[in-house]
Amino acid sequence: MNIRKFELYLLPFLLLIVTLSILISCHDGRSVVDKKQGWQADEGLVDTLSNKNFSVNYFEDSIPLFELPDPLTVLKGSSVTDAETWNKTSRPAILQLFREFVYGIAPIGKPESMTFDVYDLKKDALAGLSTRKQVRINFSGKLEGPFMDILIYLPDNSESPVPLFLGLNFQGNHTINNDPEISITKSWLPNGRVGVVDNRTTEKARGIAASRWPVEEILKHGYGLATIYYGDIDPDFDDGFLNGVHGAFDQKGPRESNAWGSVSAWAWGLSRAMDYLQTDKDIDGTHIAVIGHSRLGKTSLWAGAQDDRFALVVSNCSGCGGAALSRRKYGETVGIINTSFPHWFCRNFKKYNNKEDELPVDQHMLIALMAPRPVYIASADRDLWADPHGEFLSAYYANPVYKLFGKKGIEVKGMPPLDTPVQDGYIGYHVRSGKHDLTLYDWNNYMDFADKHFR
Ligand code: GCU
Repeated sequence: MNIRKFELYLLPFLLLIVTLSILISCHDGRSVVDKKQGWQADEGLVDTLSNKNFSVNYFEDSIPLFELPDPLTVLKGSSVTDAETWNKTSRPAILQLFREFVYGIAPIGKPESMTFDVYDLKKDALAGLSTRKQVRINFSGKLEGPFMDILIYLPDNSESPVPLFLGLNFQGNHTINNDPEISITKSWLPNGRVGVVDNRTTEKARGIAASRWPVEEILKHGYGLATIYYGDIDPDFDDGFLNGVHGAFDQKGPRESNAWGSVSAWAWGLSRAMDYLQTDKDIDGTHIAVIGHSRLGKTSLWAGAQDDRFALVVSNCSGCGGAALSRRKYGETVGIINTSFPHWFCRNFKKYNNKEDELPVDQHMLIALMAPRPVYIASADRDLWADPHGEFLSAYYANPVYKLFGKKGIEVKGMPPLDTPVQDGYIGYHVRSGKHDLTLYDWNNYMDFADKHFR
């Protein structure tokens, strides 16, 4: 072969190599998977779930090629290289993209007429372990509400203000513990749940969610716990945004396509709880972690992204619209979630049903908005609907932003093995054995992580 002929073959060959390497580097969904060591979905479970519903993808190999938007180059031009520029320009721009295209825009700050009423204060609650408080926050100060009740347990023996975990609950404050004095919400609940009659909960549901809220362990660990029934803020059904805080704060007239959905409303409620917690002398307002499971994990992330008074953020099995990368289209997708729960996100988000590639953001950028604060993301082995791998990858791809602050995010070569938490940096992650749930194992990891950053 003479030289010219050689060049003739070489050029297309080199082009092919370059194209392939670009494609491989774009294929973020698989490039960091260490197939030999890291967690992988159980093949039997993948088959079972796929056979139940062919239209949902559970196969890692069928994930489409995609390119993730780079948080550092979101403002076209050059890449951000320092924390100050990130804070001044990229961060607010990304936050605005999430507001505009995913969750919707909530009213800013604390309403002027909002009131706090500590209607219950009991020392030596829970057999002497805790001081219990119940606080009513009336959002607009009107007698008829809307209002939410915060249930707070603080360690009884603490001499200084305590750090605390704040999280919304699914079925009412009285379901998180058997304490007979926790008041019962009068807000709407879906029928079919234990103790719910005519969309109202009853005494029968007291303590039924206790396994998700290990109050005694939390207190013994030196943390306080504050929780609120999420339906006090906005009832979780598609009511045309007439009830809850939407009804109270929306302007009259047609709704904008970027108006706040329910996740945004719940996150706003968490910030209003924060308004109170910051005034309570028994609580260390600089060390409040926000935690949430599932749809309420989507909510804790969105609350943490918008309100940096949350010093640590925890997402437990939050899945689509939470920690999972949308572009992977694995398990629940943008199209599925917007169809099943049309009230959770803003109307603009529906434009990306089955068009995830066109979204100006993906969920790793939501995690990046927590930087430099610590954030912990957790998945469950059987919870493929929430895409454990996609949740891990969001954590992983937030790394460059933590680096801007000189902080270690999550330094791993691939997804960690089952039940092997990684929490030595500012981004924590684990995938736990078992189903979609919030367990003591999860809490113990969150508390250990908080110990590292709060103590
Ligand atoms: C459904 C929904 C999920 C959500 C979950 C929950 O499964 O599809 O997106 O996280 O409910 O909140 O329990």
